[in-house]
Amino acid sequence: MRAIRVAVLALVLTGACARSTQAPATAPGGAALSLSSQGQHGMVVSASAIASKAGSDVLAAGGNAVDAAIATGFALAVTYPAAGNIGGGGFMVIRMPDGRATTIDFREKAPAAASAEMFLDSTGAYSSRIHHRSHYAVGVPGTVAGFALAHGKYGKLAWKSLVDPAVKLSGDGFDVPKGLAASLSGSIKRTFAPYPASVAAYSKNGTAYAEGEHMKLPDLSRTLTRIRDRGRDGFYLGETASLIAAEMKRGGGLITEADLAAYQAKERSPVIGKYRGYEVISMPPPSSGGASMVEMLNILEGFDLKAAGHNTPKYVHLVTESMRRAFLDRARYLGDPDFVNAPLERLTSKTYAAELRKTISPDHASSSEPAQVTQAYESDETTHFSVVDASGMAVSVTYTLEAGYGLGAVVGGAGFLLNNQMGDFNGKPGLTDSTGLIGTPANIAKPGKRMLSSMSPSIIAKDGKLVAVVGSPGGRTIINTVLQVVLNVIDFGMTMQDAVNAPRFHHQWLPNVISVEKDGLPAATVKALEGMGHVVKLGGQQGTAHSIMVDWKTGMRIGAADPRDRDAGAVGY
Ligand code: DON
Repeated sequence: MRAIRVAVLALVLTGACARSTQAPATAPGGAALSLSSQGQHGMVVSASAIASKAGSDVLAAGGNAVDAAIATGFALAVTYPAAGNIGGGGFMVIRMPDGRATTIDFREKAPAAASAEMFLDSTGAYSSRIHHRSHYAVGVPGTVAGFALAHGKYGKLAWKSLVDPAVKLSGDGFDVPKGLAASLSGSIKRTFAPYPASVAAYSKNGTAYAEGEHMKLPDLSRTLTRIRDRGRDGFYLGETASLIAAEMKRGGGLITEADLAAYQAKERSPVIGKYRGYEVISMPPPSSGGASMVEMLNILEGFDLKAAGHNTPKYVHLVTESMRRAFLDRARYLGDPDFVNAPLERLTSKTYAAELRKTISPDHASSSEPAQVTQAYESDETTHFSVVDASGMAVSVTYTLEAGYGLGAVVGGAGFLLNNQMGDFNGKPGLTDSTGLIGTPANIAKPGKRMLSSMSPSIIAKDGKLVAVVGSPGGRTIINTVLQVVLNVIDFGMTMQDAVNAPRFHHQWLPNVISVEKDGLPAATVKALEGMGHVVKLGGQQGTAHSIMVDWKTGMRIGAADPRDRDAGAVGY
């Protein structure tokens, strides 16, 4: 039975809390797509309405949530190239209908020739350019291996049918949506400029595509065809691998065909916390996301946030103080668990949270000590998508190229963009300074090591039943964005669209500043926070939290795409 798809504009669902909404996008085949959607059977919400439709079609064809996530992920590599990828990596959290949960770690790895000193120039000085903007910044990609591992263990439909929509989207082409047109047009003269293969792939001989123009990506389509026909070997061996190795030689990078052949994605046990009777299932290291979020939730459980009121001075103060403490621990302890033993059990325990809670004054900001550890450079481009199927299986995926379009370099002849994820390693051992560099050992580059992440794909359950699927991009702000969506749902009973739309704020221990989204807090609230000793900065937008909530009464899967992403869409069936 073909199910209904009720598309409701965000504004209708969200009332006063709604921020800007968007004109509905149009999927191939003409279907109008919206930010909010309800599906009787299944739901996909992502940064690209076209990709959500590809995933939703897989659900309608009898695929499960893992199948749909894989199809959505490959389609995003075509229609959302700033972060959708096959040349990057990320994390997938899966919850089965019976409540069992697992995660797939497909984070990039350092190549065998990597070293702690690899980001230093010939004088021994740290070089931000080498760290973030050279072929040394490219980690061994994990996405294809991660999707193949997830499919082999938990997928249902044939692999080919999951990659094929992306093969077609790239080969036949698609109409460039508004957000992509604007984003590519800004990138041609900047990020892509040093790389002729990138300019060739993503422009018309150097001229930007306008909204609605048809874009084809033939090299990418051929690479996706190899992946469709040969599985992970179509990426890590043979022609694709030799094209990557050739690109490394051309650009002076370190990744070899042997590094590619050796890459393995890993299944890991999730971090699971309890918050006011809800189960929070999230990503363990090498992401810091799950552990940090559970640490914050445990601290906050001891405060009556509802009585404090949403985004009031008291609320922002208490949440900020929990952020400050969790981010200090992140900097102190977290790194790739295959190399570093973090005290995860303690960090996520209620007793530790109780100790930390006692150190929070009700009306005074604590201090942060720059001399201990400072934050590393992180940029602002990643993407999150959420899937729920008819059986109640839920999948939460965040993956990334690190910066928008990663390094900016398309692999010549292979048509896909390379990540610059090595920039998430610390820059120089021992170099911790006020400009924001961290030199602590847990996250120093080593051969085969995964760089620390903040990505926090998460799933919420209660009494054995699925409640929500959440996540976001945004570098370190990711953890705090997901935290606030969870608090909005659990403490304030918001609809998922309200929870996603609500203004957000961020504090990461250092710098000792609360960043608030533009127009996010009234002037009186900012003044009250300053009176407590906080420094408040009003800035741009924070994250894009494409999420799903399940209505237990009706069984409806309620998709809420974040209006902060211009091409986003929720597609149910
Ligand atoms: O893994 C991480 O935490 C970062 N590389 C993610 C970068 C990011 O979210 C940029 N996005 N908007």
